[in-house]
Amino acid sequence: RVKDRATGLDKLVLREARGSSAEVYLYGGQVTSWNNTYGEQQLFVSKKASFKPPKAIRGGIQICFPQLGNHGVLEQHGFARNRLWSVDENPPPSRDTTFDCHINLILKQSADDLKIWPHSYELRLQVALSPRGDLILTSRIKNSNADGKPFQFSFAYHTYFSVSDISEVRVEGVDTLDYLDNLQSKNRRTEQGDAVVFESEVDRVYLSAPPKIVTIDHEKKRTFVLRKKELPDVVVWNPWDKKAKAMPDLGSEEYTCMLCVGAACIEKPITLRPGEEWQGRQEISSVPSSYSSGM
Ligand code: BG6
Repeated sequence: RVKDRATGLDKLVLREARGSSAEVYLYGGQVTSWNNTYGEQQLFVSKKASFKPPKAIRGGIQICFPQLGNHGVLEQHGFARNRLWSVDENPPPSRDTTFDCHINLILKQSADDLKIWPHSYELRLQVALSPRGDLILTSRIKNSNADGKPFQFSFAYHTYFSVSDISEVRVEGVDTLDYLDNLQSKNRRTEQGDAVVFESEVDRVYLSAPPKIVTIDHEKKRTFVLRKKELPDVVVWNPWDKKAKAMPDLGSEEYTCMLCVGAACIEKPITLRPGEEWQGRQEISSVPSSYSSGM
């Protein structure tokens, strides 16, 4: 655990014996760096990102809970991404396998949060690196309400991948799926083309997507493979030039070298009764593009 000199915020650094590494801020429980075994950065963080609460850090992997986007009455993408998490020293045993190189964080409601979302919860996040350098995020959410009330939430790993040139990127695995188009009043539409390519702003939630989504960066000759569990939907977002210019924490040209593709659960929110726990996992690997997606 180190204090970042530039931001003054606490972050945890994970280093896997075979060379990969990751950094996770307690602020937002947010992964802001993921280097593969060759030391190459795989995630995008804006040069103009603000590290000053209450603004969320622009980039890395934002944890969106208990709401995604403006699909609800809470603040955009929920509040977990701008809260201070803690290290979870004694997490209860997990039913999923894990890797030796990992850290556990936890977020619970504060007295102030209860005024905007009147529920007690335990949100646990494990960030792990596999021996081959994959980044595995597992979240567990438990309803700790003492008043017997269930609660409902949506969730996303809002993942900013670093790409070399957005015009040369395509996303496979979501073609032919229905999606909610946030640029068209969240209308439900169906994808027509083969793979998703980027020529203008894209702001979509693909529904009931397969467990594996592939993002191919031609110029860098690398492919991100995203595998997900208990997270049926997939967020795909790039602001393009006009929106990027209007965002104070994104450089006007930075949209060309980022793409958000993240596992989510939006269309059918999860309901938990007191004592119940939900678990959702996203695993991402970065592989050379000679790799065949098998789709
Ligand atoms: C996407 C939303 O998921 O996130 C977009 O669908 C939004 O509408 C984008 O602009 C970034 O959101 P924020 O709150 O981090 O600026």
